[in-house]
Amino acid sequence: MLQKISHWMKKEEQTTEISLENIPKHVAIIMDGNGRWAKKRSLPRIAGHSAGMKAVKEVTRVADDLGVKILTLYAFSTENWKRPKEEVEFLMKLPQEYLKTELEELVEKNVQVRLLGSEEGLPEHTLNALKEARERTKDNTGLILNFALNYGSRAEIAQMVQGISRDVLSGNISVDQIDEKLIDQYLLTKGLEDPDLLIRTKEIRLSNFMLWQIAYSELWFTDVYWPDFSREHFIEAILEYQRRVRRYGSV
Ligand code: FPP
Repeated sequence: MLQKISHWMKKEEQTTEISLENIPKHVAIIMDGNGRWAKKRSLPRIAGHSAGMKAVKEVTRVADDLGVKILTLYAFSTENWKRPKEEVEFLMKLPQEYLKTELEELVEKNVQVRLLGSEEGLPEHTLNALKEARERTKDNTGLILNFALNYGSRAEIAQMVQGISRDVLSGNISVDQIDEKLIDQYLLTKGLEDPDLLIRTKEIRLSNFMLWQIAYSELWFTDVYWPDFSREHFIEAILEYQRRVRRYGSV
């Protein structure tokens, strides 16, 4: 494995520092700065999103090779519908663009593609591409590649409360049974471990992303624009994660 990693690394010494015993199982990323990356180059915002897709490809590969188990990428929030129509249409085409070139490799690499978010409201072409990828990779046992699309954490929490309330009213569960584990079962992330590491490019805020799930995640922020985010940045984040001591409230 180390050989494989150093093969791509520019700075070989960086790889030898990585402890393969302490790779975060679940890495979640808020990808930000596509628009500003484009603006800096006098390009339209959508050029930033295209370049951002390339970074998605690179980061998926490095996460897989390092042995990350779950990679969650915040690709479109429930608030992103407020953007100009052309930009939304472009963003909705990205999953199929990405899967057109990457799906075969994902299948071959045993990656399982999932969708985190509401299917309702997504254009048919976007949903079909994701459903096809989900179907073709559903039995894969390697990296879970979780696309947060049409996702909003508060909406997810509201749905969880509705779901639990319905089951209490119908007598399926009692109020006393409501605890953290039960709540997990009613969230869209049901069955997935919480993120160990949350990465955000360009801004220092959470923007309605996995608010319940990141209670004990390590947070890592970088001023890098998402399209410039490379395997070296990902490794830098992992190295910083490995230097942290996780206490979960204890001493
Ligand atoms: C935030 O940057 C980014 C997004 C809303 C879209 C993220 C999408 C990608 C990186 C590509 C996704 C690829 C696949 C395969 C689904 P911004 O536009 O808010 O940037 P700004 O804050 O600089 O304007």
